Amino acid sequence: PSVAVIVVAAGSGLRLGAGGPKAFVGIDRHSMLRHALRGVFEGPVAQVIVVAPADRVGDARTDAVEAAGAHRDLVTVVGGGQTRQDSVRAGLSAVWPDVEIVLVHDAARALTPASVFERVVGAVRSGRDAVVPVLPVVDTIKRVDADAVTAAVDRSALAAAQTPQGFRRDVLDTGYEIAREEYTDDAALVQAAGFSVFTVAGDDRAFKITTPADLERARLLASPVAP
Ligand code: C5P
Repeated sequence: PSVAVIVVAAGSGLRLGAGGPKAFVGIDRHSMLRHALRGVFEGPVAQVIVVAPADRVGDARTDAVEAAGAHRDLVTVVGGGQTRQDSVRAGLSAVWPDVEIVLVHDAARALTPASVFERVVGAVRSGRDAVVPVLPVVDTIKRVDADAVTAAVDRSALAAAQTPQGFRRDVLDTGYEIAREEYTDDAALVQAAGFSVFTVAGDDRAFKITTPADLERARLLASPVAP
C-alpha cells in the first residue's frame, strides 16, 4: 500500500492510574488498542505499524491480528521508546519502502472513526505536506501567570489538535531527521522543520483517553467490537 498508519501505544498510562500500560486497558472486553485498530482498519488500506511497550509486543500483535482480519499481512509491531517522539521514530523505521503517506495516530484516541482517517489521507493526496484534524475550542481560554489572568485569548484563532496526523512520507522523515528537541505533536515537529501544516475537521469521538473520567466516557460511547 502507499499509506502507512503508525499507531503509538507505548505510553505508561500513569495519569489513567489503571496499573498498567494504557493501550491495554479494557474499554469493554476489548482493549483501547483493539478499539483504535478497528477505526484504522475501517479506513484506507494501509500498512499498520503498532508501537507497543517492549514487554507487550506479543499482546499488541494479538490485538492487531484480530483487528486486521484478512489484512494481517499489513501488520507490523515494534517496541516503543521513552517518549512519544521516540516511539514514533521507532515506528517510522518500520515503514515499507513503497509507502508515500504516513499517518501517526494515538492508540489513546481509541474511538476515532474511519472518516477522520479518510479526510486526512485525502488532504495529503490532494497535495498538503502535513495535515492535522482539529476541533474548534469551545472553552474561553485565558493566558495566566501563577494565579493571575494576564490576558484574554481570542479563541476564534485557536483549534484543538487531534490524531491521526498525516504527512508526505519524505516530509515526516525530514522532520524527524532534523528534530533536536521534544515537540508536543508530529505537526509541530514538521512545522519546526519549515513545512506548512493544514487542518481538516476532527471528530468529537477522537478525544484522547487520559484520565479515569475519559475512560468512563469511552465506556459509555463504545459500540462493541464484533467478535
Ligand atoms: O500520554 P499520552 O496519552 O499523551 O500519549 C499519547 C499517545 O502516545 C498514547 O497512545 C501513548 O501510548 C503513546 N506514547 C508512546 N510512547 C511513549 C509515550 C506515549 O507510544 N513513550
